[in-house]
Amino acid sequence: MNISTLIKQSPLSLRDTLIVLEHISGFDKNYIFLHQDSLELDNERLKKFNDIVYKIKDGMPLQYAIGKWWFFGHEFFVEPPVLIPRPETEILVEKAIEIVKDCQIGFEPFVGSGIISISLLKYYPHLKIIATDINKKACELTLKNARLHKVEDRILVVCSNIADAIKIEKVDFLVANPPYIPTKSLETLDKSILKYEDTRALDGKEDGLFFYKKLKSFDIKPMIMEVGHDQEYAIKSIFGDVEIIYDYSYKPRVAIVR
Ligand SMILES: C[S@@+](CC[C@H](N)C(=O)[O-])C[C@H]1O[C@@H](n2cnc3c(N)ncnc32)[C@H](O)[C@@H]1O
Repeated sequence: MNISTLIKQSPLSLRDTLIVLEHISGFDKNYIFLHQDSLELDNERLKKFNDIVYKIKDGMPLQYAIGKWWFFGHEFFVEPPVLIPRPETEILVEKAIEIVKDCQIGFEPFVGSGIISISLLKYYPHLKIIATDINKKACELTLKNARLHKVEDRILVVCSNIADAIKIEKVDFLVANPPYIPTKSLETLDKSILKYEDTRALDGKEDGLFFYKKLKSFDIKPMIMEVGHDQEYAIKSIFGDVEIIYDYSYKPRVAIVR
């Protein structure tokens, strides 16, 4: 089938159609867009395209349907129900890169798919990180992504609940994107998030602040944390002297405790 015709008939947006086509054909999406009139898709690939489109129309996020996504310029495996990388978390990584340049070893609780730690490990070849998560699938996915990026010898992944007493000693910094949505607000989230992503990845308990209070008890500095857009004053009341970094919409996004 001619790709130009396929693009016209696709029920997905142009962007998503090109991402799926890139995934199944191996051609760059810009190349596909520019040469669509002369490109053909064979039956085998057309079937793959239709299968993925079917999943997306059924509510599966595009990222899970193609099994990968991009974060901080790198490609990562994504698998349900581990949280899909969010673009706003790139601000956390940008700040962490500035702050941890002279550090040797860091701690990332709530590691999820590993995107934060792995981005830092790729940036600083001397760095090592201890990472934890309650979700076994997240721990496995972090290791899979660490192998993809050849940093598996510099990340120690421990599957554990932050509420259990794990002793983290001698680390030079903590970086984290904890669950921070108040439980009662979870029901307002998009249906596809609730259906496919593990709500434990988002649920910050009653006031959304449960995990920040837990992090404070680690007493590691510097601490670089993603925060909810409406949590600036609550975070200041927990940590006292804390620097807040705003995103491009002037919303609080990162808290730094030095
Ligand atoms: C907001 S996600 C962050 C994932 C990843 N760091 C990112 O930025 O995409 C929070 C993570 O915390 C984990 N988590 C939730 N409750 C936890 C707990 N009690 N102890 C340890 N990890 C927990 C979830 O499994 C999830 O992977």
